[in-house]
Amino acid sequence: MTAQGFADVLIGTQYGDEGKARVADGKAKEYDVIARFNGGANAGHTIVHDGKSIALHQVPSGIFYKNTSMYIGSGCVINISKLDEELENLKKSGIDARERLHISSQASVIQPHHLAIDANIGSTIGTTKNGIGPAYADRALRMWGERVLNIRMGDLQNDPDTYFRMMRANFEAMAALHGYTADIDSELAEMKKDFEAIAPLIEKDTLFLQKKVMGGAKVLFEGAQAFMLDVVKGLVPYVTSSGTTAAAAYGGGDLSPDCHRKTIGVAKVIMSRVGHGPFPSEFGGMQSEEYCMKANADGSPMYGKAVEAAYDVDALLASSDPFDVGKAIRVLSGEYGTTTTRPRRIGVFDLVQLSHAVKINGIKSLVLTKCDLLQAYSRTKNGMIPLVTGYELDGEMIDYVPASLNAYQRVKPIIEYREGFTEDIKNAKNPSDLPSALKKVLKEIEERAGCAVEGIGVGSDREEYVTL
Ligand code: GDP
Ligand code: IMO
Ligand code: MG
Repeated sequence: MTAQGFADVLIGTQYGDEGKARVADGKAKEYDVIARFNGGANAGHTIVHDGKSIALHQVPSGIFYKNTSMYIGSGCVINISKLDEELENLKKSGIDARERLHISSQASVIQPHHLAIDANIGSTIGTTKNGIGPAYADRALRMWGERVLNIRMGDLQNDPDTYFRMMRANFEAMAALHGYTADIDSELAEMKKDFEAIAPLIEKDTLFLQKKVMGGAKVLFEGAQAFMLDVVKGLVPYVTSSGTTAAAAYGGGDLSPDCHRKTIGVAKVIMSRVGHGPFPSEFGGMQSEEYCMKANADGSPMYGKAVEAAYDVDALLASSDPFDVGKAIRVLSGEYGTTTTRPRRIGVFDLVQLSHAVKINGIKSLVLTKCDLLQAYSRTKNGMIPLVTGYELDGEMIDYVPASLNAYQRVKPIIEYREGFTEDIKNAKNPSDLPSALKKVLKEIEERAGCAVEGIGVGSDREEYVTL
């Protein structure tokens, strides 16, 4: 039986936080199911609707549509207590997501020792400390002697006593090795309680989503993290630990690939990155990376939103030091981690990186977010919009993202400048409302990326969007 419905895949093309959730929310009414296929609570997905902002972490972005259901696929790793809390918070906002949420029985559980390991070793990569890497590592490791390392939602549902005991044993083994201390009994008791509230959402039928599509359902896969953070194709080792490409959606999302219709990419026209790792177009380069990653003794970000709010944005924008320009743009665009509150590193829109992502993911159309912020460049020294149009590596021009970290650190981005615009475009509704300088830049982006732009974000609210 072939599929009667279909699936589209929406992924971030850059380093995460491209605005995937706002795009998924904007499209949700065209679909029956919004599904996640990778990651977990490391994602921070913001939807702004009628001026009200909601941050989602594990729940897919279909929450605002009563007829849309949500699915968390087998490719995800689930923090049970955080998921329960997220659902409770949504309920307090008047959204009953629990009724419409389905969870794969094959999704893995984030265990206490995963959180302990990530808290201890995650800072070299700059992880979100959600235990994501250790959970995927245990999925691959499977067993350690008699201990089952990869505990899945269906395991807990079928035999909670055995698997909660196993979780305790897993923590104790790691604690003995690394000296972790925790009140594991009360942690597990809390998790058990939360699990009871989540257990009814677990789908026993491993063909759940497949059957839905065979019955005519339209699915939108909502990627978490982004292409450059893919565990294999990204900038290893400064990546997340799941597959983030369009192809990964079908494995982690529990659908056969013949359901695929098209892939939509989301890119932010002023880029950001959180955590360590190369970012060739970063304003201020290494200096910016160090500044953004600086933490207080308690691990909290040193230059959070409150500190930066006091900066003189106009003076910074007019500075000839790119590091200053980056700081100003971060303040203007509110680029601070949804999960971690860290200042995000800011960079020039990189069209070489984008065209690489378009090719390898088969992206058929692009949504460009934060186009309203391009106006900020009119307040910089030359008043123009910068774009990365080429990469030079060891004296040669290349048209791809190199695999080796060392090579990527040697890449010299070629930056070209285009005419800027001074208009505030937040109220633009149609292409005819857009300044001609922006239209020219959009055309160039389409040509260089090798892909059509279907729409642009001109503000964070659902309505602040122009379909091209
Ligand atoms: P995600 O992880 O890809 O879903 O993105 P995040 O929600 O982490 O980060 C994107 C941020 O940009 C959020 O604060 C959004 O509200 C905001 N945003 C999305 N699109 C636009 C846009 O077009 N303009 C502006 N100004 N903000 C936007
Ligand atoms: P969304 O879905 C941006 C980054 C972390 C770190 C690296 C590994 O909101 O776009 P992890 O906790 O996954 O082991 O961290 O990946 N990272 C993200 N950066 N957006 C995200 O998700 C991210 N999820 C993880 O900052 O550098
Ligand atoms: Mg995010």
